[in-house]
Amino acid sequence: MKVVAVFSVKGGVGKTSAAVNLAWSSSREQRTVLWDLDPQGGATYLLGLTPKQKAKADIHALVKGKTDLVDVVRSTGDGALDVIPAHDSYSALDLELDATKRPERQLDKLLGSLKKHDVAVLDCPPGMSLLSDAILRAADVVVAPLVPSPLTMRSLDQVTDMVAGMKKKRPTVVGFLSMVDRRKTIHRDLAQTLPQESEHVIDVVVPASTTVERMGVERAPIATFAPRSAPTRAYGELWTGVRSALSLPRPGSGVEA
Ligand SMILES: Nc1ncnc2c1ncn2[C@@H]1O[C@H](COP(=O)(O)OP(=O)(O)OP(=O)(O)O)[C@@H](O)[C@H]1O
Ligand SMILES: [Mg+2]
Repeated sequence: MKVVAVFSVKGGVGKTSAAVNLAWSSSREQRTVLWDLDPQGGATYLLGLTPKQKAKADIHALVKGKTDLVDVVRSTGDGALDVIPAHDSYSALDLELDATKRPERQLDKLLGSLKKHDVAVLDCPPGMSLLSDAILRAADVVVAPLVPSPLTMRSLDQVTDMVAGMKKKRPTVVGFLSMVDRRKTIHRDLAQTLPQESEHVIDVVVPASTTVERMGVERAPIATFAPRSAPTRAYGELWTGVRSALSLPRPGSGVEA
């Protein structure tokens, strides 16, 4: 199984929006599950799950091996896309990991019970913690949303430095420009220069758009209610870049991207 982590040390940069839309695109081609690791449950909400469908098992039961991750998978109602809903106990994830012998290996281990899925997309809470180490260890590709600002490079460097510090398998970092407002000079400039200057940034610009915000009202991936919008196109291009970084085949091609 391939693992895509949507990750940033910064909050509010568009991780959850990207995770839900990437998972939807992936699910058109691969059996996909989104794991909502954020106790806020934003992705669980955006995928339309009701409180009754919440995960029953807390993180303690998962980490202790009393419950397998596969047993907390739920259908989103869209047959191709499954979700592992957030659980309140995820706010103690760091403590649970800390109580294990090899904290950084725990997510990888849990994901091992998902035999029926080809791709797992992890929606991660912001921050830098034991959980981040475990996320990066489990990931094949780390997707980092970058909101243009004078500190954009720093937020990308935080991710690439963490990856560079890893001893064994290192995930590929795929940064993209998020919430870009073309009326602002710094946004226009960075959207043009960053993909040229950094090998870790792909030429995908998700515009600042009320259509993305509408996901919170529609409670659905953007392509399902605004298929021809600019953000839908951008998230589609982002998936193409991630699929290629995962070495997954393009649909219908029979060959690797
Ligand atoms: N391209 C966009 N244009 C306009 N609004 C956006 C865009 N992307 C995300 N938003 C809005 O910004 C807010 C934060 O987005 P999102 O939840 O995806 O970020 P996040 O990085 O997951 O945040 P957190 O760190 O709190 O988990 C949400 O209200 C979302 O609707
Ligand atoms: Mg989020």
